[in-house]
Amino acid sequence: MTTETASATDRSFLFVLGSSRADGNTEILARTAAAQLPAGIPQRWVDLNTLPLPDFQDGRHDTGDWPSDETEEELRRATLEATDIVLASPLYWYTVSAQTKRYLDYWSGWLSAPGSDFKERMAGRTLWGVTVMADRDESVTGGLVTTLNNSAAYLGMRFGGVLFGNGSRPGQVRDDERAMVRAKTFFQAEPPLALFPYEEGARQR
Ligand SMILES: Cc1cc2nc3c(=O)[nH]c(=O)nc-3n(C[C@H](O)[C@H](O)[C@H](O)COP(=O)(O)O)c2cc1C
Repeated sequence: MTTETASATDRSFLFVLGSSRADGNTEILARTAAAQLPAGIPQRWVDLNTLPLPDFQDGRHDTGDWPSDETEEELRRATLEATDIVLASPLYWYTVSAQTKRYLDYWSGWLSAPGSDFKERMAGRTLWGVTVMADRDESVTGGLVTTLNNSAAYLGMRFGGVLFGNGSRPGQVRDDERAMVRAKTFFQAEPPLALFPYEEGARQR
């Protein structure tokens, strides 16, 4: 995405906060990046930690109505309304937090709800990641990156990559100068369509 494209009025960002504490490092880093978005691009922020969203129940192969409560419906609508979805999850056990994973699990339900056009509507949109971790070495984030990239590939989405930061106690990410600098231009990238690893060869040819 160029700055020019980013100013287009048809863009809108959904920031999905997945930390299990308020005012954490991941939110700080995500907000630093979001502050660079042009003012005309709407931003919506949801904090999964404060939403009463139960664990996903797999009813994909059940018959009958698809039960969905108010919180789930609000999240589904917010997801479908955004052109860009930013999963801001701390690195927990080398992958996304349980809160973030639970939100992604709901995508499976939305994909297979009767009459759903979730997959068609998500295709071409962009998935981004923001994560903060105690480890200083970003090579430990492979699990999280793979989860986001492959999920985007499954839905035919673009993948903008992951903005990394280092920190443990709240606010510590502000001391990660490299992360703060990278945050300034993170959303200016022009994300490619996400591919599964077995499709990467085709892109290179
Ligand atoms: C349940 C849990 C699991 C964690 N797992 C990892 C990990 O695998 N690797 C790592 O570097 N840091 C790990 N951390 C540290 C967090 O990533 C770090 O404290 C981060 O700043 C938390 O982000 P937040 O401030 O946005 O909540 C873990 C922390 C918790 C609470």
